Amino acid sequence: MSTAVHIGSVQGETQDNALRIRNERRSQYLVTAFIVSGVLFMLLPGTFLGVWNLLNISEAHDASTLPLGWLQAHGQAQIFGWIGSFILGIGFYSLTKMQTGRKFPLVAGWWVWALWLAGISLRWGSGVTAWEWRVLLPLGSFLQCAAFLLFFISVRRHRTHTTSRRPEVWMQIVAASTITFLSTLMVNCALLVRQAWLGNSPAVPHLLDQQFVTLAVWGVLVPTIWGFNARWLPIFAGLQKPDGKRLLLAYVLSLLGIALTFFGEWLASGLVLMAAATVSVDALHVWERAVQPPKLLNIHSSFPFFLRVAYAWLLVSCVLALLAVPLDRAGGLWGASRHAITVGFVALMVFAIGQRILPAFCGMRILWSTRLMFWSMFLLSLGCLLRVSAEPLAYGGLWAPAWKVLPVSAIVEMTAVCLFALNLGATLWQPPAHLRSETKTSLSKGAA
Ligand code: HEM
Repeated sequence: MSTAVHIGSVQGETQDNALRIRNERRSQYLVTAFIVSGVLFMLLPGTFLGVWNLLNISEAHDASTLPLGWLQAHGQAQIFGWIGSFILGIGFYSLTKMQTGRKFPLVAGWWVWALWLAGISLRWGSGVTAWEWRVLLPLGSFLQCAAFLLFFISVRRHRTHTTSRRPEVWMQIVAASTITFLSTLMVNCALLVRQAWLGNSPAVPHLLDQQFVTLAVWGVLVPTIWGFNARWLPIFAGLQKPDGKRLLLAYVLSLLGIALTFFGEWLASGLVLMAAATVSVDALHVWERAVQPPKLLNIHSSFPFFLRVAYAWLLVSCVLALLAVPLDRAGGLWGASRHAITVGFVALMVFAIGQRILPAFCGMRILWSTRLMFWSMFLLSLGCLLRVSAEPLAYGGLWAPAWKVLPVSAIVEMTAVCLFALNLGATLWQPPAHLRSETKTSLSKGAA
């Protein structure tokens, strides 16, 4: 009797393991699909359109010559097409890692992917071409909402099944920014329905758009990074464990800062966001000495340095936003502040952490080239430095040669983005680490 029970439980365990491995493999395909689509969005509708915009602005010596719809389509492609796809992919990956049961929402995952991709493509295409924009613009944003809602339901259903403990601070912040992500998409949908109804072009009015960009950047991108940084920086960079209460304070301040922009209180919002950024640096111990050696296996040794540089860009962005309130001319200081945060903080952080974790998340692979990792981060920082210093001088008419620096900054940033895409693409192209070592072993056996 007891032998039969034992055999039964061993069979059950083997079945469970087989299911777990199958789930893991299937979820890796799904994550890879999100990452590859994110990279494609970053490259073509995001970066190439951004570079094209900047080259045209520099040639005309005037930012207002370009259709607003193109600028907004570029911003949407980067925030939702690139970073949004990465967030969804990593979200699904975390589900498989935390799961205790046999179920993984694979079908829902592929629906989310298809709806999300269709939504951001429609939103981008109709924004740039203005073709049938009164229908396609709101339809695109509606599909984005539907995709995210489905993702949200999958995550929530999973969470209630697996945990009853109070979640750690990093989880609370990631969960809160997921809710803000959903709210941001709903605001986007409302804005675009309003635009389709009342507007005469696909571009949302400038002020509303700026408030929306603040919501997307400070409500979604920045806190998501804080949340994952709180989880990963102590492990990967050897930093001291974060101060949870202070990090929550930074998060609450960022929400207050966003709310103030919607009341038109840009100076007060700038001050509060500056406080939020400073508190986050303190809470995450970013610039303090590491307490453990960083984990640098298979990545470039400059990784901890660039993480710290990213936080310097976050503060630079806040200082520029504060200067922009009384001093901005023709959007130069606002543009510089926006790119200090989107390129210097968000993109640099994704380049650093992404090349650290994504090879493993997408099927236990090893980063293709550590040197490319360094050059992508170095060139991105250099391009950002050129851009952020030249934009206020050029747009504000303060120093004419700065117009010549802007195209250089665009090309340097584009090179960085291409190197990042190449490194990730080549990493995903090669077989997983364990298969590579098996191939090597069998090759060397064959040679012997
Ligand atoms: C290759 C690098 C990039 C170039 C050349 C570029 C270029 C531009 C240009 C010319 C503008 C409009 C003028 C201005 O505000 O300065 C703009 C706006 C914007 N960019 Fe970028 N950009 C790049 C990377 C990024 C990245 C990585 C992100 C986000 C992760 C981003 C997000 C935005 C946003 C949100 C806007 C505002 C759009 C709006 O007004 O609705 N950009 N970019």
